[in-house]
Amino acid sequence: MSGYRVLESSELSKLRDPMRDFGLDVLVGLSEKPKKLDSRYFYDEEGSRLFQSIMNCEDYYPTDSEREILENHGRSILANCASGPLNVIDLGAGDGAKTKILLSAAVQMGIDCRYVPIDISEAAVAGVTANIGAEFPGIEVDGLVCEYTDGLNWLSYQDDDRRNLLLFLGSNIGNFDKARARAFLRRQWTSLRDGDYTLIGFDLKKDIEVLLRAYNDRDRLTERFNLNLLTRINRELGGNFRTDAFRHYGTYDVFSGAMVSYLVSLEEQTVEIKSLGRSFHFEEWEPVHTEYSYKYLESDIVDLAGDTGYSIEGTYRDSARGFVDSLWRVDK
Ligand code: AVJ
Repeated sequence: MSGYRVLESSELSKLRDPMRDFGLDVLVGLSEKPKKLDSRYFYDEEGSRLFQSIMNCEDYYPTDSEREILENHGRSILANCASGPLNVIDLGAGDGAKTKILLSAAVQMGIDCRYVPIDISEAAVAGVTANIGAEFPGIEVDGLVCEYTDGLNWLSYQDDDRRNLLLFLGSNIGNFDKARARAFLRRQWTSLRDGDYTLIGFDLKKDIEVLLRAYNDRDRLTERFNLNLLTRINRELGGNFRTDAFRHYGTYDVFSGAMVSYLVSLEEQTVEIKSLGRSFHFEEWEPVHTEYSYKYLESDIVDLAGDTGYSIEGTYRDSARGFVDSLWRVDK
Protein backbone atom coordinates (compact mmCIF):
# COMPACT_ATOMS: atom_id res chain seq x y z
CA MET A 1 0.00 0.00 0.00
CA SER A 2 1.26 3.43 -0.79
CA GLY A 3 -0.29 6.84 -0.62
CA TYR A 4 0.26 10.40 0.37
CA ARG A 5 -1.43 13.19 2.21
CA VAL A 6 -1.09 16.93 2.40
CA LEU A 7 -0.21 18.08 5.93
CA GLU A 8 -2.96 20.27 7.37
CA SER A 9 -1.97 23.63 8.75
CA SER A 10 -3.05 22.52 12.25
CA GLU A 11 -0.49 19.68 12.06
CA LEU A 12 2.17 21.93 10.57
CA SER A 13 1.83 24.40 13.40
CA LYS A 14 2.58 21.61 15.88
CA LEU A 15 5.73 20.72 13.97
CA ARG A 16 7.25 24.15 14.22
CA ASP A 17 9.80 24.32 16.99
CA PRO A 18 11.16 27.82 17.48
CA MET A 19 14.07 26.54 19.57
CA ARG A 20 15.24 24.49 16.65
CA ASP A 21 15.12 27.57 14.44
CA PHE A 22 17.38 29.41 16.89
CA GLY A 23 19.84 26.51 16.95
CA LEU A 24 19.77 26.15 13.19
CA ASP A 25 20.31 29.86 12.62
CA VAL A 26 23.20 29.96 15.11
CA LEU A 27 24.78 26.90 13.48
CA VAL A 28 24.52 28.35 9.99
CA GLY A 29 25.54 31.87 11.04
CA LEU A 30 28.64 30.83 12.98
CA SER A 31 29.68 28.50 10.16
CA GLU A 32 29.74 31.40 7.72
CA LYS A 33 32.74 33.61 7.12
CA PRO A 34 32.47 36.35 8.20
CA LYS A 35 30.45 34.88 11.06
CA LYS A 36 27.06 36.31 11.87
CA LEU A 37 24.15 36.06 14.29
CA ASP A 38 20.63 37.31 13.54
CA SER A 39 19.49 40.39 15.49
CA ARG A 40 15.96 38.96 15.89
CA TYR A 41 17.42 36.75 18.65
CA PHE A 42 18.41 39.75 20.79
CA TYR A 43 14.97 39.86 22.33
CA ASP A 44 14.77 37.23 25.04
CA GLU A 45 13.54 38.55 28.39
CA GLU A 46 16.86 40.05 29.39
CA GLY A 47 17.40 41.43 25.86
CA SER A 48 13.98 43.10 25.83
CA ARG A 49 14.76 44.62 29.21
CA LEU A 50 18.14 45.85 28.00
CA PHE A 51 16.53 47.37 24.93
CA GLN A 52 14.11 49.26 27.20
CA SER A 53 17.08 50.77 29.01
CA ILE A 54 18.75 51.65 25.70
CA MET A 55 15.57 53.54 24.78
CA ASN A 56 15.85 55.48 28.03
CA CYS A 57 19.52 56.36 27.69
CA GLU A 58 20.84 59.78 26.60
CA ASP A 59 22.82 58.66 23.59
CA TYR A 60 20.08 56.65 21.88
CA TYR A 61 18.07 59.44 20.24
CA PRO A 62 15.47 57.62 18.04
CA THR A 63 13.01 56.94 20.87
CA ASP A 64 12.96 60.58 22.00
CA SER A 65 12.61 61.79 18.41
CA GLU A 66 9.65 59.54 17.74
CA ARG A 67 8.03 60.39 21.07
CA GLU A 68 8.22 64.07 20.10
CA ILE A 69 6.62 63.30 16.73
CA LEU A 70 3.72 61.41 18.30
CA GLU A 71 3.20 64.09 20.92
CA ASN A 72 3.11 66.89 18.34
CA HIS A 73 1.38 65.10 15.47
CA GLY A 74 -0.57 62.21 17.02
CA ARG A 75 -3.89 63.98 16.52
CA SER A 76 -3.26 64.81 12.86
CA ILE A 77 -2.10 61.26 12.20
CA LEU A 78 -5.36 59.95 13.63
CA ALA A 79 -7.47 62.61 11.94
CA ASN A 80 -5.93 61.49 8.65
CA CYS A 81 -6.81 57.83 9.00
CA ALA A 82 -9.75 57.43 11.37
CA SER A 83 -13.22 58.14 10.12
CA GLY A 84 -14.72 55.30 12.13
CA PRO A 85 -13.72 52.51 14.51
CA LEU A 86 -10.05 51.59 14.32
CA ASN A 87 -7.91 48.52 14.98
CA VAL A 88 -4.51 49.77 16.10
CA ILE A 89 -2.09 46.91 15.45
CA ASP A 90 1.34 47.46 16.93
CA LEU A 91 4.07 45.29 15.37
CA GLY A 92 6.98 45.01 17.79
CA ALA A 93 5.08 46.91 20.46
CA GLY A 94 7.73 46.55 23.18
CA ASP A 95 6.62 48.48 26.25
CA GLY A 96 4.06 50.40 24.17
CA ALA A 97 5.19 53.70 25.70
CA LYS A 98 5.09 55.61 22.41
CA THR A 99 1.86 53.98 21.25
CA LYS A 100 0.27 55.16 24.49
CA ILE A 101 0.66 58.75 23.27
CA LEU A 102 -1.31 57.88 20.14
CA LEU A 103 -3.97 55.95 22.06
CA SER A 104 -4.43 58.79 24.50
CA ALA A 105 -5.01 61.16 21.56
CA ALA A 106 -7.49 58.67 20.11
CA VAL A 107 -9.44 58.57 23.37
CA GLN A 108 -9.54 62.39 23.50
CA MET A 109 -10.81 62.47 19.94
CA GLY A 110 -13.52 59.96 20.78
CA ILE A 111 -12.23 57.34 18.33
CA ASP A 112 -13.42 53.81 19.02
CA CYS A 113 -10.15 51.84 19.26
CA ARG A 114 -9.19 48.23 19.63
CA TYR A 115 -5.50 47.74 20.42
CA VAL A 116 -3.47 44.71 19.30
CA PRO A 117 0.13 44.79 20.58
CA ILE A 118 2.29 42.15 18.87
CA ASP A 119 5.72 41.29 20.20
CA ILE A 120 8.09 38.36 20.32
CA SER A 121 8.61 38.89 24.05
CA GLU A 122 5.79 37.51 26.20
CA ALA A 123 6.88 39.70 29.12
CA ALA A 124 6.53 42.76 26.88
CA VAL A 125 3.05 41.80 25.65
CA ALA A 126 1.87 40.91 29.18
CA GLY A 127 3.18 44.25 30.46
CA VAL A 128 1.72 46.42 27.72
CA THR A 129 -1.65 44.61 27.84
CA ALA A 130 -1.99 45.18 31.58
CA ASN A 131 -0.72 48.72 31.33
CA ILE A 132 -2.92 49.96 28.48
CA GLY A 133 -5.90 48.04 29.87
CA ALA A 134 -5.55 49.84 33.21
CA GLU A 135 -4.94 53.29 31.74
CA PHE A 136 -7.60 53.20 29.02
CA PRO A 137 -10.55 51.13 30.25
CA GLY A 138 -12.49 52.03 27.09
CA ILE A 139 -9.96 50.36 24.81
CA GLU A 140 -10.20 46.63 24.19
CA VAL A 141 -6.68 45.14 24.23
CA ASP A 142 -5.92 41.86 22.46
CA GLY A 143 -2.19 41.09 22.63
CA LEU A 144 -0.34 38.52 20.52
CA VAL A 145 3.02 36.92 21.27
CA CYS A 146 4.63 36.01 17.95
CA GLU A 147 7.10 37.11 15.28
CA TYR A 148 6.28 39.76 12.68
CA THR A 149 5.39 37.36 9.88
CA ASP A 150 3.04 35.32 12.06
CA GLY A 151 1.43 38.58 13.18
CA LEU A 152 0.87 39.54 9.54
CA ASN A 153 -0.56 36.08 8.80
CA TRP A 154 -2.95 36.49 11.71
CA LEU A 155 -3.95 39.91 10.40
CA SER A 156 -4.72 38.59 6.92
CA TYR A 157 -7.57 36.41 8.16
CA GLN A 158 -9.23 38.97 10.45
CA ASP A 159 -12.59 39.79 8.91
CA ASP A 160 -14.18 42.53 11.01
CA ASP A 161 -15.10 45.67 9.10
CA ARG A 162 -13.04 48.11 11.14
CA ARG A 163 -10.26 50.03 9.49
CA ASN A 164 -6.73 48.91 10.41
CA LEU A 165 -3.89 51.19 11.41
CA LEU A 166 -0.76 49.06 11.45
CA LEU A 167 2.09 50.60 13.45
CA PHE A 168 5.67 49.65 12.68
CA LEU A 169 7.44 52.19 14.84
CA GLY A 170 10.86 52.80 16.33
CA SER A 171 12.75 52.25 13.05
CA ASN A 172 12.30 48.50 13.46
CA ILE A 173 12.25 48.51 9.65
CA GLY A 174 15.96 49.46 9.85
CA ASN A 175 16.92 45.89 10.77
CA PHE A 176 16.02 44.83 7.21
CA ASP A 177 18.31 45.61 4.32
CA LYS A 178 16.66 47.66 1.59
CA ALA A 179 15.52 44.66 -0.48
CA ARG A 180 14.05 42.87 2.53
CA ALA A 181 12.38 46.06 3.71
CA ARG A 182 10.64 46.25 0.34
CA ALA A 183 9.58 42.60 0.58
CA PHE A 184 8.35 43.06 4.14
CA LEU A 185 6.28 46.14 3.33
CA ARG A 186 4.73 44.35 0.38
CA ARG A 187 3.99 41.36 2.63
CA GLN A 188 2.33 43.81 5.01
CA TRP A 189 0.34 45.27 2.08
CA THR A 190 -1.09 41.82 1.28
CA SER A 191 -2.33 41.46 4.88
CA LEU A 192 -4.09 44.83 4.86
CA ARG A 193 -7.21 45.91 2.97
CA ASP A 194 -7.73 48.74 0.54
CA GLY A 195 -8.01 51.95 2.52
CA ASP A 196 -6.17 50.64 5.60
CA TYR A 197 -3.23 52.61 6.94
CA THR A 198 0.26 51.95 8.19
CA LEU A 199 2.50 54.28 10.18
CA ILE A 200 6.17 53.48 9.79
CA GLY A 201 9.06 54.94 11.79
CA PHE A 202 12.18 55.64 9.71
CA ASP A 203 15.44 56.84 11.18
CA LEU A 204 17.03 59.32 8.78
CA LYS A 205 20.63 59.71 7.64
CA LYS A 206 22.27 62.32 9.83
CA ASP A 207 25.50 63.51 11.46
CA ILE A 208 27.62 60.39 11.67
CA GLU A 209 28.91 61.30 15.15
CA VAL A 210 25.33 61.23 16.43
CA LEU A 211 24.81 57.79 14.89
CA LEU A 212 28.03 56.40 16.32
CA ARG A 213 27.17 57.61 19.81
CA ALA A 214 23.70 56.08 19.65
CA TYR A 215 25.11 52.61 18.95
CA ASN A 216 28.19 52.88 21.19
CA ASP A 217 26.55 54.51 24.20
CA ARG A 218 28.62 55.66 27.15
CA ASP A 219 26.70 53.44 29.59
CA ARG A 220 27.68 50.42 27.49
CA LEU A 221 24.07 49.27 27.34
CA THR A 222 24.37 48.50 23.62
CA GLU A 223 27.41 46.38 24.37
CA ARG A 224 25.49 44.43 27.03
CA PHE A 225 22.57 44.12 24.60
CA ASN A 226 24.84 42.51 22.00
CA LEU A 227 26.73 40.32 24.48
CA ASN A 228 23.42 39.07 25.86
CA LEU A 229 23.02 37.15 22.60
CA LEU A 230 26.04 35.04 23.60
CA THR A 231 24.56 34.53 27.07
CA ARG A 232 21.32 33.41 25.43
CA ILE A 233 23.21 30.88 23.30
CA ASN A 234 24.93 29.61 26.45
CA ARG A 235 21.65 29.18 28.28
CA GLU A 236 19.38 27.88 25.55
CA LEU A 237 21.82 25.93 23.40
CA GLY A 238 24.43 24.84 25.95
CA GLY A 239 27.23 27.13 24.80
CA ASN A 240 30.30 28.18 26.74
CA PHE A 241 30.91 31.71 25.42
CA ARG A 242 32.85 33.98 27.80
CA THR A 243 31.32 37.40 27.29
CA ASP A 244 34.49 39.14 28.50
CA ALA A 245 36.38 37.62 25.57
CA PHE A 246 34.34 39.69 23.09
CA ARG A 247 33.96 43.40 22.53
CA HIS A 248 31.07 45.19 20.89
CA TYR A 249 31.79 47.58 18.03
CA GLY A 250 29.25 49.69 16.17
CA THR A 251 30.27 51.43 12.96
CA TYR A 252 28.56 53.37 10.17
CA ASP A 253 28.77 52.34 6.55
CA VAL A 254 28.28 55.60 4.69
CA PHE A 255 27.55 54.01 1.35
CA SER A 256 24.89 51.50 2.39
CA GLY A 257 23.62 53.90 5.06
CA ALA A 258 23.65 51.29 7.79
CA MET A 259 24.85 51.29 11.35
CA VAL A 260 26.49 47.89 11.58
CA SER A 261 27.17 46.10 14.86
CA TYR A 262 29.78 43.48 15.55
CA LEU A 263 31.10 41.40 18.39
CA VAL A 264 34.86 41.06 18.00
CA SER A 265 36.79 38.17 19.52
CA LEU A 266 39.55 39.57 21.72
CA GLU A 267 41.62 36.39 21.58
CA GLU A 268 41.98 33.15 19.71
CA GLN A 269 39.43 30.81 21.24
CA THR A 270 37.18 27.83 20.66
CA VAL A 271 33.58 27.89 21.81
CA GLU A 272 31.55 24.74 22.22
CA ILE A 273 27.78 24.68 21.72
CA LYS A 274 26.52 21.37 23.11
CA SER A 275 23.07 21.14 21.56
CA LEU A 276 24.57 21.76 18.12
CA GLY A 277 27.26 19.13 18.71
CA ARG A 278 29.78 21.60 17.32
CA SER A 279 32.68 23.81 18.27
CA PHE A 280 33.46 27.13 16.65
CA HIS A 281 36.91 28.58 16.34
CA PHE A 282 37.54 32.33 16.61
CA GLU A 283 40.78 33.98 15.61
CA GLU A 284 42.00 36.99 17.54
CA TRP A 285 40.09 40.09 16.24
CA GLU A 286 37.67 37.95 14.25
CA PRO A 287 34.29 39.71 13.94
CA VAL A 288 30.77 38.32 14.33
CA HIS A 289 28.17 40.50 12.63
CA THR A 290 25.11 41.00 14.84
CA GLU A 291 22.91 43.79 13.47
CA TYR A 292 22.09 46.25 10.71
CA SER A 293 20.18 49.46 11.45
CA TYR A 294 19.56 51.07 8.08
CA LYS A 295 19.10 54.83 7.87
CA TYR A 296 16.96 56.49 5.22
CA LEU A 297 16.85 59.53 2.99
CA GLU A 298 13.40 61.06 2.64
CA SER A 299 13.52 60.17 -1.06
CA ASP A 300 14.09 56.48 -0.13
CA ILE A 301 10.81 56.58 1.82
CA VAL A 302 8.91 58.00 -1.16
CA ASP A 303 10.36 55.33 -3.48
CA LEU A 304 9.63 52.54 -1.01
CA ALA A 305 5.97 53.53 -0.61
CA GLY A 306 5.48 53.73 -4.37
CA ASP A 307 7.25 50.43 -5.03
CA THR A 308 5.13 48.51 -2.53
CA GLY A 309 1.62 49.79 -3.28
CA TYR A 310 0.95 52.62 -0.86
CA SER A 311 0.32 56.34 -1.14
CA ILE A 312 1.88 58.65 1.40
CA GLU A 313 -0.77 60.52 3.41
CA GLY A 314 1.50 62.33 5.84
CA THR A 315 5.16 62.84 6.70
CA TYR A 316 5.75 63.72 10.34
CA ARG A 317 9.18 64.92 11.47
CA ASP A 318 10.79 65.73 14.80
CA SER A 319 12.19 69.23 15.26
CA ALA A 320 15.77 68.08 14.65
CA ARG A 321 14.58 66.42 11.41
CA GLY A 322 16.35 63.21 12.25
CA PHE A 323 13.37 60.87 12.26
CA VAL A 324 10.18 60.45 10.23
CA ASP A 325 6.89 58.74 11.00
CA SER A 326 5.40 58.19 7.57
CA LEU A 327 1.67 57.52 7.21
CA TRP A 328 0.79 55.34 4.23
CA ARG A 329 -2.57 54.38 2.78
CA VAL A 330 -3.01 50.95 1.22
CA ASP A 331 -4.03 51.14 -2.46
CA LYS A 332 -5.57 48.02 -3.95
C1 AVJ B 1 14.82 48.09 17.75
C2 AVJ B 1 15.86 47.68 15.69
C3 AVJ B 1 15.00 49.84 16.18
O1 AVJ B 1 18.26 49.25 15.33
O2 AVJ B 1 18.08 51.07 16.47
C4 AVJ B 1 19.26 49.66 19.45
C5 AVJ B 1 17.77 48.08 18.03
N1 AVJ B 1 20.24 48.07 18.41
N2 AVJ B 1 20.57 49.72 19.70
C6 AVJ B 1 17.84 49.88 16.31
C7 AVJ B 1 19.05 48.60 18.61
C8 AVJ B 1 21.16 48.76 19.08
C9 AVJ B 1 16.98 49.15 17.35
N3 AVJ B 1 15.69 48.67 16.75
